[in-house]
Amino acid sequence: MSRVVVTGRVPEAAIEKLRAEHEVDAWPGPESIGREELLRRVAGADAVVSLLTERIDAELLDAAGPQLKVVANVAVGYDNIDVPACTERSIVAANTPGVLTDATADIAMGLILMSTRRLGEGERLIRSGQAWKWGMFFLLGSSLQGKTLGVVGMGGIGQATARRAKAFGMDIVYQSRSDIDPEIAAELGARRVDLNELLAVSDVVSLHCPYGPATHHLIGAEQLAAMKSSAYLVNTARGPIVDEAALASALRDGRIAGAGLDVYEHEPRVHPELLELENVVLLPHLGSATVETRTAMAMLAADNALAVLSGERPPAPIN
Ligand code: DGY
Repeated sequence: MSRVVVTGRVPEAAIEKLRAEHEVDAWPGPESIGREELLRRVAGADAVVSLLTERIDAELLDAAGPQLKVVANVAVGYDNIDVPACTERSIVAANTPGVLTDATADIAMGLILMSTRRLGEGERLIRSGQAWKWGMFFLLGSSLQGKTLGVVGMGGIGQATARRAKAFGMDIVYQSRSDIDPEIAAELGARRVDLNELLAVSDVVSLHCPYGPATHHLIGAEQLAAMKSSAYLVNTARGPIVDEAALASALRDGRIAGAGLDVYEHEPRVHPELLELENVVLLPHLGSATVETRTAMAMLAADNALAVLSGERPPAPIN
């Protein structure tokens, strides 16, 4: 029997699955486990099932000890894990791709609609108790039909967002490290372009690339200036892909029309200027937040940990 440490609350079904074979030490929450407590608890662990809010770095791997075999993140993004540090110690790192694709694409599409149709503004107006009535020019937004969606990072979530946008009548361009499956490109009518062209032609730019040194501030002042002044930026990937101060100033000065954000550069902190602006929709990292999706993520993370503990390759390895 091995020792599995779970760093935060996850659906019970995953804990039960792990407990059927191993000793499980699961942080009960609801608050996040503090760093000191985390370092103390991982000592002697054979597997760590981690949440994206916990930094899994060399210090933590060393605190766990040389018996640690696997770090299974309950997220598709793994910028919280120092993967080279895992590899150096022969620790398998794993994530949860696939199971949250549709839920996250739904939120991206939701943000596209919310920002282009000014739904947050309308909702805030009603709740404020201010007087209002229907008017020909009241809270006019922008239609999606015939407009262009630029997808940055055309993996599973980017493709699923493009599929939704196509159903709303949008044309699709994308920027990606490689071409996508030609059949999917044909189905979506999607054309691969470089980032500069994407920024210049898109009416909505939606970010779906992983976060790392190569994508830190991929969208900064220069890129925002390259967008149409009528365009919108949507981010459901990771906050630091966008220079939040530059975005706040572009939104304030009307250099772009609006934005929809689910993730933040210094999460959970939101740039104070964004909080003052009407033309940005702000969600609290809800991309994968459905009961079904979170359960599937936790079960896949449990499967990843269990596979490695029984000497097998996990279903979703990173390294
Ligand atoms: C992920 O899995 O990376 C998501 O951000 C979680 O919502």
